[in-house]
Amino acid sequence: MNHLLTTTALTIEEINDILEDAQRFSTGEIWQPKKQTFVANLFFEPSTRTKSSFYMAERKLGLDVIPFETETSSVQKGETLYDTVRTLEAIGLDAVVIRHHEDQYFDELVGKINIPILNAGDGCGHHPTQSLLDLYTIKSEFGHFRELKVAIIGDLRHSRVARSNADVLQRLGAEVVFSGPEEWFDENLLKYGRYQPVDEAMETADVVMLLRIQHERHENGGRDFSGQYHQAFGLTVERERRMKPRSIIMHPAPVNRDVEIADCLVECERSRIFQQMENGVYVRMAVLKRSIIQGGVNHVNHHQKWS
Ligand code: CP
Repeated sequence: MNHLLTTTALTIEEINDILEDAQRFSTGEIWQPKKQTFVANLFFEPSTRTKSSFYMAERKLGLDVIPFETETSSVQKGETLYDTVRTLEAIGLDAVVIRHHEDQYFDELVGKINIPILNAGDGCGHHPTQSLLDLYTIKSEFGHFRELKVAIIGDLRHSRVARSNADVLQRLGAEVVFSGPEEWFDENLLKYGRYQPVDEAMETADVVMLLRIQHERHENGGRDFSGQYHQAFGLTVERERRMKPRSIIMHPAPVNRDVEIADCLVECERSRIFQQMENGVYVRMAVLKRSIIQGGVNHVNHHQKWS
């Protein structure tokens, strides 16, 4: 079963195939499945970008999107995630996109659900399509990953984006460094790169990848920086002036303006923040196509009849 659950599970060849397909979609290439294909987007956590761009990607591929909202579903009556997804499988869905607040929510589904699951973010775990769109954005900019330095800065401990990106960027040959408040360091990330003071990281990186402060994942609301975060760890106007001439700014968004990044820099020349969002549609078209083809949905048996 061809789920997309983590980037860690993808080989470099698979990643490159997805990025190449996304590139073709960006130039207007059209691909649609040979038979009617039904999908649903199950978002148990809020989302603007991921949900809307999956929906856009699905519509561009001509898929039939079955509405599903947790607030009006039987989840409200206590139905489990497994029973919810099994129900959608039973009524004929061909694939499901899921975002859930539990880390590795998919463990209870894998091996029991026979349609592809595309992970749209699990707790502090993984966000594979964000990672793939980040890779696509970097590759579009530089053409390669080798010898690039990527500084991932901010709320590392609570970031599924940091985890997903650190692994693939290292495997693709980039140098990864981390920075931000020490209390948000995650020693599990040290296998992918070292920590650097924020000024040094921002001045020497080719890609400054900022992370949102994930207040919703902090116990008791977390440390109150009382407006000091921006000066201590954020991309200020002064720090942006010291960045390398061709280096770029990325942020998965939503952005806390004047916290992780100065308001006036969000759409500055170096910023690729809104380009990342556009690229998200192409990447999600590519991963949906992959799951549909490899999940066998694309196969049409014209001779199948009632017996
Ligand atoms: N980057 C991202 O996942 O944004 P959303 O939470 O709005 O989907």
